[in-house]
Amino acid sequence: MDIVRRILSMREIARKERESGRKIGFVPTMGSLHEGHLSLVRRVKELADIVVVSVFVNPKQFGAGEDLSQYPRDIKRDADLCIAEGVDYLFHPEPEEVYPDGHATIVEVEGLSRKLEGKSRPGHFRGVTTIVAKMLNIVHPHVAAFGQKDAQQAAIIQRLVKDLMIDVEVLVLPIVRDEDELALSSRNRFLTVEQRRAAGAIPRALQAARHVVAEGIRDPEEVVASAREVIEAEPLLKVDYVELVDPRDLNPVTAVEGEMLLVLAVYAGETRLLDNAEIRVS
Ligand code: PAF
Repeated sequence: MDIVRRILSMREIARKERESGRKIGFVPTMGSLHEGHLSLVRRVKELADIVVVSVFVNPKQFGAGEDLSQYPRDIKRDADLCIAEGVDYLFHPEPEEVYPDGHATIVEVEGLSRKLEGKSRPGHFRGVTTIVAKMLNIVHPHVAAFGQKDAQQAAIIQRLVKDLMIDVEVLVLPIVRDEDELALSSRNRFLTVEQRRAAGAIPRALQAARHVVAEGIRDPEEVVASAREVIEAEPLLKVDYVELVDPRDLNPVTAVEGEMLLVLAVYAGETRLLDNAEIRVS
């Protein structure tokens, strides 16, 4: 596996691979890789000839109160995991090259970026869409994979690719969960033993919502309340939001019907945990 540090080199590699007729698969990450990322790599490897993983802790998607410096970084471990998965290139650029002096362009998906996470983390998605647009321009993949755990991010990236007519297939792949069903996240490592145990209430809350819908509850507020209740029973957790939304526009649903997404953000101490579940009523 080659570790590529310069944008020009990555661009040149992508150009040559394409010219040789090879299909490029891409998994953008901020490093601190776990089984969730590796599941994306494995799927992309099935679909493409060449796999590129980027590791870039993107400063533009961290808000003022969010500690960019605390974000876990271990490029050696990430590289070893990528080698074990048969990744071809690990793209690991310097922030100074990605955002040189004078950088002034921001990519923003309006509307979708202001809801849910966007309300609690203003400017976050602008940072995400700016870096994803840059990465897609540099790596020029045929297919790029994102995780359903960050459902809003995935919806925003799909919109970005559509609106900017970027020639890439976007895959959104299922959430990978731990033994107690907690969604894997790089942030889980910040949890104390007690918080980690309490966080088990998050997947149980999603289950509770699914259960009441299966039992015939058709009031969105009751569905949301059933999930909230499970989380609020855990003193170590604090709900930021629990919403039942339409997956297309992320607006709260007014009726429990068709395809819906129960999305939530919860704090365990300072650690923000996201999760979601599809709920369907036919
Ligand atoms: O999901 C992430 O890890 C990041 O938001 C992404 C898509 C790599 C952009 O920095």
